[in-house]
Amino acid sequence: MRTIEKFAQALKKEDFKKIAVMTGAGISVNAGIPDFRSKTGLYSKLKNPELVFDINHFIKNPQFFYDNAPSIITPEAQPTLTHYFISFLESKGLMQICYSQNIDGLERKAGVKKVVQAHGNIDKAHCALCRKDYSRKDVVDAMRASKVMYCDCKGPIKPDVVFFGESLPKEFEMNLELVASADLLIVMGTSLVVRPFSSLVNHVGFVPRIVINNTDLKSFGDIGLDFSDNKMTKDVLFVGDTDEISRKIISFAGWKEEFYEKFKV
Ligand code: OAD
Repeated sequence: MRTIEKFAQALKKEDFKKIAVMTGAGISVNAGIPDFRSKTGLYSKLKNPELVFDINHFIKNPQFFYDNAPSIITPEAQPTLTHYFISFLESKGLMQICYSQNIDGLERKAGVKKVVQAHGNIDKAHCALCRKDYSRKDVVDAMRASKVMYCDCKGPIKPDVVFFGESLPKEFEMNLELVASADLLIVMGTSLVVRPFSSLVNHVGFVPRIVINNTDLKSFGDIGLDFSDNKMTKDVLFVGDTDEISRKIISFAGWKEEFYEKFKV
């Protein structure tokens, strides 16, 4: 399974029927949403990038978030081929869970049902102090105008994105069993540097872990993945654009007609 072709054939033969998928910002770059840590990513332009999504900093200085986060608040964005590929695997009964770090909701838009939005979403907004709910539209408009929106209690309002310093949604814990029992893990478009999300790669048993990323990132090593030629390793890295590689998998698996019939991409 070291080549895309062999991997695709294994999928076609239904060697794996309990796939878990982990996604990151890279899968939405082709939808026009920047990632964080690439050369052109959101963080590349900032002196203190870690403060954009820091809850304590937000409460003191919400303007920093309102000024720097609008490019990833994209309710108009549409799914990429990769999002549809995930949806396709689920519709064939091969994928049991998708854990996403993305707040763009594009997995859902592509029809994926079993998705955990581990870092929240932009469907709604709330006051960072009293938690009162606010509409997404109002907060998106305010962010695009770089004008901080405040609650009646004077707290700043933020989308339901999980900031550093906030707890992850309960769905994160609730669906861990579906990762633990997976027979294959596919990791796409993430640098795997943010925990606890990245540690999900160690939550699966001794099953193949396929990583798809456009860079041969050294940082993957930190989380215990082994892309060496060691015969014992079940880890495989496919370097390339997630859409290109998904397209190849679909083609090698002989799923082209079925896929493009279902999703007009
Ligand atoms: P990163 O920006 O850290 O990583 C995205 C990865 O995708 C990088 O390794 C890119 O090289 C790769 N990539 C970009 N475009 C790609 C493409 N078209 N095909 C294949 N790979 C591509 O984003 P995440 O790992 O998702 O947290 O970041 C994790 C978290 O850090 C985010 O959820 C966010 C941020 O702080 C919060 O907002 C709480």
